[in-house]
Amino acid sequence: MRLQGKVAIVTGGGSGFGEGISKRFALEGAKVVVNDLVDTAAGRVAREIVAAGGAAHAVAGDVSKDADVSRIVATALAAYGDLHVVVNNAGTTHRNKPMLEVAEEEFDRIYRVNVKSLYLTAKHAVPHFRAKRNGVFVTIASTAGVRPRPGLTWYNGSKGAAIVTSRSMAAELAKDNIRVNVINPVAGETAMLAQFMGEDTPEMRARFVATIPLGRLSLPSDIATAAVFFASDEAAFITGACLEVDGGRCI
Ligand SMILES: NC(=O)c1ccc[n+]([C@@H]2O[C@H](COP(=O)([O-])OP(=O)(O)OC[C@H]3O[C@@H](n4cnc5c(N)ncnc54)[C@H](O)[C@@H]3O)[C@@H](O)[C@H]2O)c1
Repeated sequence: MRLQGKVAIVTGGGSGFGEGISKRFALEGAKVVVNDLVDTAAGRVAREIVAAGGAAHAVAGDVSKDADVSRIVATALAAYGDLHVVVNNAGTTHRNKPMLEVAEEEFDRIYRVNVKSLYLTAKHAVPHFRAKRNGVFVTIASTAGVRPRPGLTWYNGSKGAAIVTSRSMAAELAKDNIRVNVINPVAGETAMLAQFMGEDTPEMRARFVATIPLGRLSLPSDIATAAVFFASDEAAFITGACLEVDGGRCI
């Protein structure tokens, strides 16, 4: 088991990629703190992990709120006595539409959830990581941050910001033996996909798939595989890396 004995927080773990990451981490021996904005979603994933023989604890909370992130980190420490990994997976987008049709409130929400959350999880986890000179952040950004599609302008920008922010964190935190790496998924089979496409029709899916050389959308299991690697000690000398899990979309 590649994450045996590790305690991991997975934000947005109540569905999609975060659910896949939470469940795979548990199978690899991690104790998982499953966070989500949606209380019932986090609870369901944690219960399913426990029912399958793993260790998990659900914490509802908004990753863009300081008090909530403080509580999420405190829960990990109280429940399991330690914290080794934070997966910054929670994210949101605006629907695919012309850039000037995105309201200011939508823009602010996207940056709060996709970018400010990195600041807040760092604020609350880094002091703990520093004290023991060990810790890992994994950011789930997007190919949108390096190979933008039209109609998702502000989402693309937030993911670009998440990538550079994560790499900047890696540069500053390396001296404390804290690693920060980024996964850039291509469009995947999750609830968010309909927002990216604007309309979920066979034709629109075919248009998206046509831009992916390996000929399919990403799956939570594809992203979870990469997250396990970055979270594990196998990646002990890797920091500031960006891994596209994208079927070749960014070639
Ligand atoms: N699905 C894709 O095509 C795709 C592609 C590239 C990157 N991503 C990124 O992957 C990550 C996971 O998204 P997904 O595709 O699994 O979508 P999803 O909608 O299935 O999951 C996102 C989860 O995050 C939770 N969440 C949203 N805002 C939150 C907040 N403020 N605090 C806590 N939890 C919150 C949601 O409730 C949801 O459970 C996101 O960062 C997304 O931007 C998705």
